[in-house]
Amino acid sequence: MTDTTGKSNEMWGGRFTAKPDDVMEAINASIDVDKRLAEEDIAGSMAHATMLAACDIISQDDLSAIMAGLEQVLEEIRTEKFQYSRALEDIHMNVEARLKEIIGDPAGRLHTGRSRNDQVATDFRLWVKNACIARMDQIEALMSALIEQADAHADWVMPGFTHLQTAQPVTVGHHLMAYVEMLSRDFTRFSDAVVRMDECPLGAAALAGTGFPINRDMTADTLGFSGPMANSLDAVSARDFVIESLSTIAICAQHLSRLAEELVIWSSAPFSFARMSDAWSTGSSIMPQKRNPDAAELVRAKTGKANGALIAMLTVMKGLPLAYSKDMQDDKQTAFDAFDSIDLSLQAMTGMISTMSFNKDKLRAAASGGFSTATDLADWCVRELNIPFREAHHITGATVKLAEDKGVDLWDLSLEELQSVEPRITNEIFDVLTVDASVASRQSYGGTAPQCVREQIAAWKERLS
Ligand code: ARG
Repeated sequence: MTDTTGKSNEMWGGRFTAKPDDVMEAINASIDVDKRLAEEDIAGSMAHATMLAACDIISQDDLSAIMAGLEQVLEEIRTEKFQYSRALEDIHMNVEARLKEIIGDPAGRLHTGRSRNDQVATDFRLWVKNACIARMDQIEALMSALIEQADAHADWVMPGFTHLQTAQPVTVGHHLMAYVEMLSRDFTRFSDAVVRMDECPLGAAALAGTGFPINRDMTADTLGFSGPMANSLDAVSARDFVIESLSTIAICAQHLSRLAEELVIWSSAPFSFARMSDAWSTGSSIMPQKRNPDAAELVRAKTGKANGALIAMLTVMKGLPLAYSKDMQDDKQTAFDAFDSIDLSLQAMTGMISTMSFNKDKLRAAASGGFSTATDLADWCVRELNIPFREAHHITGATVKLAEDKGVDLWDLSLEELQSVEPRITNEIFDVLTVDASVASRQSYGGTAPQCVREQIAAWKERLS
């Protein structure tokens, strides 16, 4: 519960006598959003207080009081007994004010040698870092689900498309493993971002550092950062760690939207390549035959939120002079929303993928249609008849036209008919025209041959274990 009655803010000291305008309070307060940083804020305060005592800046007695008081505040927050106040603006002041109520004067020593500017930068870095690591785990879970399905369907043929026109047959396993590759890059984008954001702003104070003999290595270490940020101005004003993770989220959301789109297409009645499990389908209130892939559609839609968050954050930060400006307070809702939506999307996609089933006959029939082995015919002419590829392409085009006019598949044409296009064609051509022969032949590194797909699956299983 947030108390909105509003009292004059006592944290500012003597200079302010009147309470802020109601609308000023509404636009200025961030507590409804940044209360999500409570755990990080208290961890930061504990690390700071411990360091202050270790450096003889506050007494051991004050430290003990502060630590016990912060423990109690944390407990109140965890058990939802904490009374948040909008008049106290943000999580930092809410925690400190409550600490003062609990322990009295020693609470006033906690803010020595720090500012809300380095405090919020530290809290938010901690939060974003942990959120990135959590998303990395979820990406791995989705990769594993895809690998399982790829393994089970390593040699099931399906049409490979370009322009959503049947191009060449591929295997279901190969198709699914393409997403594993994309997701693995999203994973490393998150892990790279984590390495870069792994420096601690705490101790930069308002912007210029502090005259107190603080130990920034100690607080950085306590909070699990690799070290302190080197420039105090940069420390309080950098938000590129947010932008970088939002860009990673946007790219990941875009990858998920492509997979989502495929699930929508594959599970449509005319395609019927795949069937979503009941747990991941919805019915229609009027058309009982429908099984709607709502979760896939929503994953596809969440790209909007991810892109919006990235653009919002880039725009908030554009042109801000050093160091802190209040504009930066608007970073949190944006980032929380983006992290929350990719969290749901990754979970939903993992659920859908691991429970979906494929329709072997439909996939095979579609893989065989659309003259999908036309390239194999052209390649055969190049290989066996030493015809230049461009000419072989022309011969194949004429053959496809012949089959199309007769309303038959390539392999239904007689040898005589094939020879009417190219007299040197022999009976052996029929060995390469089937979809199984086509996929089996594509053994170049990264190709769709089941043997290659199984090698990729084994390599990924090894990497993920
Ligand atoms: N609530 C603020 C934020 O999220 C904390 C920092 C406020 N600093 C200041 N000088 N007003 O950005």
